[in-house]
Amino acid sequence: MTRTPNPDRRQQLVAIDGPVASGKTAVGRALAQRLGWKLFDTGIMYRAATWQALRKGVHLDEEDSVADLIRESKFQLSPQPGTDSVEMDVFVDGDDATPHLRRPEVESGVPTVAAIAGVRVLMVQIQQEQAAQGCMIVVGRDIGTVVLPDAPVKMFLDASEEVRARRRAAEQNGGADEASVLRATRRRDARDRGREASPLTVAADAIRLDTSELTLEEAIDAAETIVRERIPETAEEEATRTTQSR
Ligand code: DC
Repeated sequence: MTRTPNPDRRQQLVAIDGPVASGKTAVGRALAQRLGWKLFDTGIMYRAATWQALRKGVHLDEEDSVADLIRESKFQLSPQPGTDSVEMDVFVDGDDATPHLRRPEVESGVPTVAAIAGVRVLMVQIQQEQAAQGCMIVVGRDIGTVVLPDAPVKMFLDASEEVRARRRAAEQNGGADEASVLRATRRRDARDRGREASPLTVAADAIRLDTSELTLEEAIDAAETIVRERIPETAEEEATRTTQSR
């Protein structure tokens, strides 16, 4: 059978949401590699916005000032150099923000910036423009609900608080103690789920994948199966599915 890539790139989008350390970015990255797509981790946008506010000396609690600054700033995304990278770099007013996104002050300030409705509106718009290219795994907190409500595949990755705290502690060079990471994870969850603007919620049509008991490899395999079952890879497969669903 001939295998013509499915020409409808809007079909080639996967939305992955979930709380911190649910595995969504690691799973999204591996999926993008397996499918030959790009990974758009939308958290980098909120981190870049936070970095911009900090370097411009705008107080993060001054919502209107932060939103005004972000409106005036130019955000650009570009594929990371290196032939096998699936990730994107983010530039703000021409400067590469990527090396600064995991700094402690960005880490602690980003939930405040991500809760500003005026910032979210701007970020969502950029994310939608970017996703229009298709062939993309889009990862975040509000992708299935707000950014891409029509995405053909939506997944919500989750894991127990304890497992997520253990993963985060391990990420932090094994040096962090689990009890304090668990407290920080709870605080972060409460902020993500409790904020007024686009709280973290599960889209009604999202497939839930609990990764608590899964290895990373198993989670990736499960996610890949979900995607391959739902997204026609070729134009021929798309035509067969359309005929069958009539
Ligand atoms: O996934 P992350 O840790 O890089 O996200 C950074 C922050 O941005 C975190 O507070 C959640 C928030 N975020 C969001 O509100 N909406 C998104 N689509 C992505 C991230």
